[in-house]
Amino acid sequence: MDMFIIQGGTRLRGDITISGAKNAALPIMAACLLTRHECVIRSVPDLADTQHLIKLLETLGAKIWRDESDALHIKVEDESCCLADYESVRRMRASICVLGPLLARRHLAEVSMPGGCAIGDRPINLHLRGLEALGTQKISLESGNIVAESPYLKGSEVFLGGPFGSTVLGTANILSAATLARGRTVIESAACEPEIVDLGNFLNSLGAKITGHGTPRITIDGVEELQGSDYEIIPDRIEAGTFMVAAAITNGELTLHNCRTEHLMAVIDRLNLIGVEVERLTNAVRVSSARRLNPVDITTQPYPGFPTDLQAQLMALLCLADGNSIITEKIFPDRFMHIAELNRMGARLRKEGPTVVVQGVRELIGAPVMASDLRASAALVLAGMVAQGQTEVRRVYHIDRGYYGIEDKLNKVGAHIERVKE
Ligand code: EPU
Repeated sequence: MDMFIIQGGTRLRGDITISGAKNAALPIMAACLLTRHECVIRSVPDLADTQHLIKLLETLGAKIWRDESDALHIKVEDESCCLADYESVRRMRASICVLGPLLARRHLAEVSMPGGCAIGDRPINLHLRGLEALGTQKISLESGNIVAESPYLKGSEVFLGGPFGSTVLGTANILSAATLARGRTVIESAACEPEIVDLGNFLNSLGAKITGHGTPRITIDGVEELQGSDYEIIPDRIEAGTFMVAAAITNGELTLHNCRTEHLMAVIDRLNLIGVEVERLTNAVRVSSARRLNPVDITTQPYPGFPTDLQAQLMALLCLADGNSIITEKIFPDRFMHIAELNRMGARLRKEGPTVVVQGVRELIGAPVMASDLRASAALVLAGMVAQGQTEVRRVYHIDRGYYGIEDKLNKVGAHIERVKE
């Protein structure tokens, strides 16, 4: 297993280019199962998660290759297999996004039921209720697999609201499936995340008839067949947000290229209050910070609210603010595995239910720490870059799931991060 050895205390300065969005790429790649025509997808980041999905799509009969311009080509050649087994779902929860496309196109989907993960209990009841609303004739659980079967799907009204708001991948599944359903589907309480807008735009580029994506009501008029297309994925707003914090936490100055600031308004709002300067440029952003950081309160919410996927990174930053901050997690109330690790580095964090009181300290001190999930590991890397002395972040395979070449990108702007074998 790889780990990072980070020497703290350097200011980051320079330019970083943001990669394509992992969470947009995954459902878009899965949606290629809806057509037998070739799809060319540009800016798919080469990450552990996208590699897992490529392997799964290959077992589901797709031929996949990258061309010399790094574009990913996906063409389904054999539609006989309908199974996403335990191994693929265990390795990557987002494998669930093949459920809707398989059912809609092959009339049968067998997908291993995902378990919980380091960020908490992660049910899929809303995905299944959505498929039921589309007239799926049989949905059962057999030997740990969800088996969904229906000779056709029927457009209908589908409500996707749950106790913590809508569901992103649930919306992706129902949106994808409804493109081939008979008649009109209206998804109410749909997720509004930019990744869902990207999926809707991709599906429309295949010939789907979708309107309203990006709002809580999406309307889909089913079509008989979808075509191929050539499509570019949006930049990764979570990677961009993570590097904004990297600039702020090291008192540095970074210009992030290929960054859509309109996807990051809630984050920019909080950073401004903290005292971080964020200058919006064309397709880029310049971030710099003064030495003194103000404390703020943050509550994670569905888009356009503050994203849960940046909660851990902002917590690392607020550890060094001049006063007390309060962070409340309203999407995954147990997504706090990073607290104990940050406390090992001298942070003062106290959890009360889904809320954490962050008492600002003057400095963090390097220590051996353990990554527990993707965004928690990013927070530990950020903390390590500002901490006194050396930080060892173990289990960085978590970070490789979602950040393309993170240590190379950060080292080029002044960080000292070395990848070694544990
Ligand atoms: N929920 C239900 N029932 C469901 C589905 C979800 O109650 O059927 C609840 C969840 O427990 C949670 C809330 O609804 O409280 C939102 O979960 P959602 O379904 O939106 O999460 P997801 O679609 O499984 C995606 C991202 C996550 C991101 C969340 C929230 C991908 C591949 N994953 O997960 O990204 O945190 O949306 O924005 O798109 C990450 O990249 O690190 C990551 C975890």
